[in-house]
Amino acid sequence: FDLSSNNTMGLRSVAHLGAAVTDVEQIPALVQMARQAERPLHILGRGSNCLLRDDIDAVVAVMEAQGKTIRELEGGKVLLTAQAGEDWPSLVEWSVRQGLCGLENLAGIPGTVGAAPVQNIGAYGVELESRLHSLTAYDTVEDRFVTFEPAACQFAYRTSLFKQTAPRYIITSVTLSLSKSWTPVLHYPGLSDDPALGDALSVMNAVLNIRSAKLPDWHRIGNCGSFFHNPIVSSDTAEKIDGVPGYPMPDGRTKLSAAWLIDRCGFKGYRVGGAGIYDRHALIVVNHGGATYDEIANLSAEVKGAVKSRYGVDLVQEPIII
Ligand code: EPU
Repeated sequence: FDLSSNNTMGLRSVAHLGAAVTDVEQIPALVQMARQAERPLHILGRGSNCLLRDDIDAVVAVMEAQGKTIRELEGGKVLLTAQAGEDWPSLVEWSVRQGLCGLENLAGIPGTVGAAPVQNIGAYGVELESRLHSLTAYDTVEDRFVTFEPAACQFAYRTSLFKQTAPRYIITSVTLSLSKSWTPVLHYPGLSDDPALGDALSVMNAVLNIRSAKLPDWHRIGNCGSFFHNPIVSSDTAEKIDGVPGYPMPDGRTKLSAAWLIDRCGFKGYRVGGAGIYDRHALIVVNHGGATYDEIANLSAEVKGAVKSRYGVDLVQEPIII
């Protein structure tokens, strides 16, 4: 089952077995099939936050289930339910253009709706967990569909129960809590200094502009967005690194800019074979064409090693390896 066109890094990859899921009711049979094949089952959305090995000894299914519904509640609140295979950036644009507010800061993030809660996608001051009403998933251990409220999802920066226990849960639909009235979230640099932002639509457009100036379009240059987490370190460690941008966390630790650390190690624009560090943003690993899994993994290890030896900070890779 060829997955080469199912990952935004553009890696060539083949899985032992695979299938497209167009209806979530197909999932129980798929779980059975993987059990009979004595292989793990992985679900891919757009493949925007994973690195695929060349040969995957597993069953890999591509989530394509489509559909969305809207339910209006009192006081201008609206619940938007989308099937896991819907495209996240399209859903955001559609909702904002319908006059629904809440997802505008999360515009332009590549991937599917079902993948969004897995790593608790976040950008420009908003994380998915703050917009989630509930989600449904198939539990491949207990063999049943389950509903999760946000409190049960163990969300934290770039992680969740679903990422920690992968590949146990297959997210099948996501319900978002939106509103007809706009509550601005404009504290992020680039938004805070823009006086023209007066509604959700203008914020969405501003976010899309910032993103396209900084981040490569995976259709043209393969990438998985940020390749490392912004490391969360003790305030002592943070203070010893002169000039690094840092954001205080509620527990007293500091979240450092990984891009800055990598940039200072001189990696911007660096290339090894087909793999490289994007020349406009040091946190993005790119496939200039023909990069292999090994080239990406070696580059990742080289960057981690350099940041560790210069700053004593451990970088954690964001995309999962399948
Ligand atoms: N910087 C550099 N060199 C660079 C790029 C950035 O020194 O090459 C420094 C700058 O000082 C800049 C700071 O790093 O102010 C932060 O950069 P940026 O605003 O681009 O944010 P980020 O921390 O690199 C995070 C998320 C992004 C998200 C943006 C906006 C993580 C791992 N990444 O990036 O998420 O879009 O904030 O909220 O938290 C993703 O996960 O794929 C992703 C793109």
